[in-house]
Amino acid sequence: MTTPSAEKPLLYEELAAQLRGMIGNGTLRAGERIPSVRRMARQRRVSISTVLQAYGVLENERAIEARPQSGYFVRPRGWNRPEEPGMSRPAPKPTSVHVSELSLQVMRLMEMTHDPNAVKFGAALPCPEWLPSAALNRMMAAAGRRRSDGGTGYEIVPGSQALRVQIARRALENGTALSADDVIVTCGGTEALYLCLRAVAQAGDTIAIESPSYFGVLTCIESLGMKALEIPTHPRDGVSLEALAFALESQPVKACVFVPNFHNPLGCCTSDEHKRQLAEMLARREIPLIEDDTYGEIAFSPYRPKTVKSFDRNGLVLLCGSFSKTLAPGYRVGWAAPGRFREKVTHLKMVSSLGNATLPELAIADYLATGGYEHHLRKLRKLYAEQTTLLTRAIGEHFPEGTRVTRPAGGQVLWVELPESIDAMELFYRALERNISIAPGPIFSPKQKYRNFIRLNAGVSWNERTEAALVELGRMMRA
Ligand SMILES: Cc1ncc(COP(=O)(O)O)c(C=O)c1O
Repeated sequence: MTTPSAEKPLLYEELAAQLRGMIGNGTLRAGERIPSVRRMARQRRVSISTVLQAYGVLENERAIEARPQSGYFVRPRGWNRPEEPGMSRPAPKPTSVHVSELSLQVMRLMEMTHDPNAVKFGAALPCPEWLPSAALNRMMAAAGRRRSDGGTGYEIVPGSQALRVQIARRALENGTALSADDVIVTCGGTEALYLCLRAVAQAGDTIAIESPSYFGVLTCIESLGMKALEIPTHPRDGVSLEALAFALESQPVKACVFVPNFHNPLGCCTSDEHKRQLAEMLARREIPLIEDDTYGEIAFSPYRPKTVKSFDRNGLVLLCGSFSKTLAPGYRVGWAAPGRFREKVTHLKMVSSLGNATLPELAIADYLATGGYEHHLRKLRKLYAEQTTLLTRAIGEHFPEGTRVTRPAGGQVLWVELPESIDAMELFYRALERNISIAPGPIFSPKQKYRNFIRLNAGVSWNERTEAALVELGRMMRA
């Protein structure tokens, strides 16, 4: 079995890994006796203490158990699904944001996505093998040949007409009536969020966000000198409307930024009724909502959830999307449909970059038109759903007692609450030493709270190394 470490494993680690593999693949079955310590030491030509150490590791992982006067046995494989974390309880006051000091750590997670030896639970990126890169590359080359300038010319704001038509067509799936003219293509969803925030608020303004919140939203708010007001958020139902109503009464909220569909990191998806009420509540107060629908396409069921934008009658919802999670994060293609703020966002996009790279836009437009996007999405959703189950199961088996895990109905991440004694930043650094990346909880909070939480990316291919890395994380936590 491979270990996630670059170093050579110690003898007891090697033995533990082999037995773990035999239990995992069913060679040693639940309830079966494993060789006694003496016998194993003889067979493997290792010392008794090496075997005791290996058995100790597996006992800690709850893979085997010692029965008095009988020896060691494989534990029954009964799988208890971990409990879910509860509603978050952030401080009910606007606060300045201090996450930029963690940017280096986040960059490290991004860098590790290029390392073939790393186990990548950190950045929320899809496994590259799941993406249609060959088809996209072909379409990019064909688009270059089709253009008289070979694709070297500007695709200035608001971006390729062909792509905007496709985005508007797809919006019908989530109940949103858009035309190509409503859409502005941006450099990933990140730029869409940044431009929309600049369009609706300025330095010193208070922005209501979910708690916890995506790192990218927090860095935008911080860099624009705005304040964040965290709203209690439930890991299944999303932002609390009661808490939001109270916040809107008591605080000068200028705008909201929410991720109602398969939130990052919580995975929650708010109901249609909740979305309708949210749209109405904000319309009554003329408060704009930046709705980040980056994960909306990744429902584990065939039902693609609606957007809040589909209930918006006043142009107050600025809908943002991206192709990073479903097609190609490196193409940097996202978009905004900013409602009544369209002109402002168009201007800001022009000031910031004139437009996007031409060919990735055209390749994605062609893929949406002819490449079988729906078929690809069906496969992708199934993969994300399967990986999420495997990951939850492995967490239940290998992480310490008291660990809680979200139960998302879509998206690609799990939010994991660890026993309070565990420090996520320390775990993050230790895991890095073993070439395992995880996203530590503090990057999801304006004041670096959530110190005993981590986020794990399910967009990884499952193999022995993936499982061994989770076992290793569990071991580090116990240590
Ligand atoms: C909630 C959310 N919004 C937006 C983005 C932006 O992604 P990109 O800029 O790659 O489109 C991400 C990426 O992880 C995300 O998780």
